Amino acid sequence: MIVVSIVFAPLLRIIDTIADGDFYLQAIAVDKEHDGKGVGTALMDSIEDKAIARGSARIVLDVSAQNEGARRLYERRGWIVASQWPKRMAIPGLRFLRMTKAF
Ligand SMILES: CC(C)(COP(=O)(O)OP(=O)(O)OC[C@H]1O[C@@H](n2cnc3c(N)ncnc32)[C@H](O)[C@@H]1OP(=O)(O)O)[C@@H](O)C(=O)NCCC(=O)NCCS
Repeated sequence: MIVVSIVFAPLLRIIDTIADGDFYLQAIAVDKEHDGKGVGTALMDSIEDKAIARGSARIVLDVSAQNEGARRLYERRGWIVASQWPKRMAIPGLRFLRMTKAF
């Protein structure tokens, strides 16, 4: 049971920390072949429009702290780092930033 709770900790943490009214973006990815051509930006435009149309007050995602390219894309669009996980226990190579953008 301890192993199960450790393996699923990131997932449980996501479920536990999404507030009512938040629009959670689980994943976004662009084929390597089309990287850096504005596709990610267009996708984010569309996703944010969808969140607003659904009446969400805020859009939320988790990104690996090592994923500097994705983080740059979000920050350029007005997203901010609201928190990080794990909060205390350091696990090498495993750190997620919870990023948000309020509408
Ligand atoms: C993160 C990701 C979705 C971004 O997608 P993308 O299509 O490359 O994004 P964009 O092209 O809109 O922007 C990326 C860069 O290209 C540049 N760019 C945008 N439009 C451009 C264009 N028409 N011509 C040239 N460059 C352009 C942007 O300025 C940006 O530069 P930066 O590296 O300084 O930030 C993509 O890299 C990806 O799938 N990564 C792997 C999966 C992943 O990490 N997902 C995020 C998990 S939270």
